Amino acid sequence: MSASKHPLLQLSGVTKGYFLGGTEFRAVKSTDLSVYPGDYISVRGPSGSGKSTLMHLMGLLDTPTTGKIFLEGQDVSGLSETKLAKIRNRKIGFVFQQFNLLPRTAAWENVALPLVYAGVSSDSRKILSQKALEAVGLAEKSGNKPNQLSGGQQQRVAIARAIVTDPAIILADEPTGNLDTVSGRVIMGLFDKFNRQGKTIIIVTHEKSVAKHARRKIAIIDGVVKEKLKSQNSKRKI
Ligand SMILES: Nc1ncnc2c1ncn2[C@@H]1O[C@H](COP(=O)(O)OP(=O)(O)OP(=O)(O)O)[C@@H](O)[C@H]1O
Ligand SMILES: [Mg+2]
Repeated sequence: MSASKHPLLQLSGVTKGYFLGGTEFRAVKSTDLSVYPGDYISVRGPSGSGKSTLMHLMGLLDTPTTGKIFLEGQDVSGLSETKLAKIRNRKIGFVFQQFNLLPRTAAWENVALPLVYAGVSSDSRKILSQKALEAVGLAEKSGNKPNQLSGGQQQRVAIARAIVTDPAIILADEPTGNLDTVSGRVIMGLFDKFNRQGKTIIIVTHEKSVAKHARRKIAIIDGVVKEKLKSQNSKRKI
């Protein structure tokens, strides 16, 4: 990524510690990481290595114990939860392993939910959510409730919900973890497509086959984050 571009998201000396019984467990150790517009990043590591913790920090779902996080140059580390929720709603789309769809709610209404929070009018919500469902190939299923959709289709609805606000970044935590191989490939094909269209995408996974879709590959082991450099086939501390 060109050095002249400003980072979209920047972690500077970020750590995350959990305090249990008076002692601190460092789930993410000191991390400097810059995410640039158009990046396609995978974060790979074994269970318990700190992937979800790192994703929660990058998605402004959690605040760092030490260090700072900048989004589009703005220091967001000290902001209140209300302000962070607003920023998340406008700037970040989330996809989780468990889909996290509302069960008794039609696909298009699930997709429209972030637009409700953003204060978008009812008419625009319908149009935008239909467009997002089209982009994931599910236009004809917009009236189906989650239990009337396959797992792969439910995850496509979740992806439509993540893109409906046209966020700057999409963060996905094990998006194929609950899916069979074929459905997983369809999901990864969608992330590939959105990245080609310019979306910045960060995918957390423990699977090599998923991580290989990304152009920047980050490894995390015991909370230590390293980036694998293409040219050297070696890892450097970042
Ligand atoms: N709220 C918490 N309180 C205390 N420890 C926590 C908390 N959340 C996570 N941890 C610990 O932090 C470490 C990293 O957890 P994390 O969920 O980030 O791992 P992960 O890489 O996402 O694992 P998995 O692949 O199983 O999802 C683990 O050792 C976990 O036990
Ligand atoms: Mg996890």
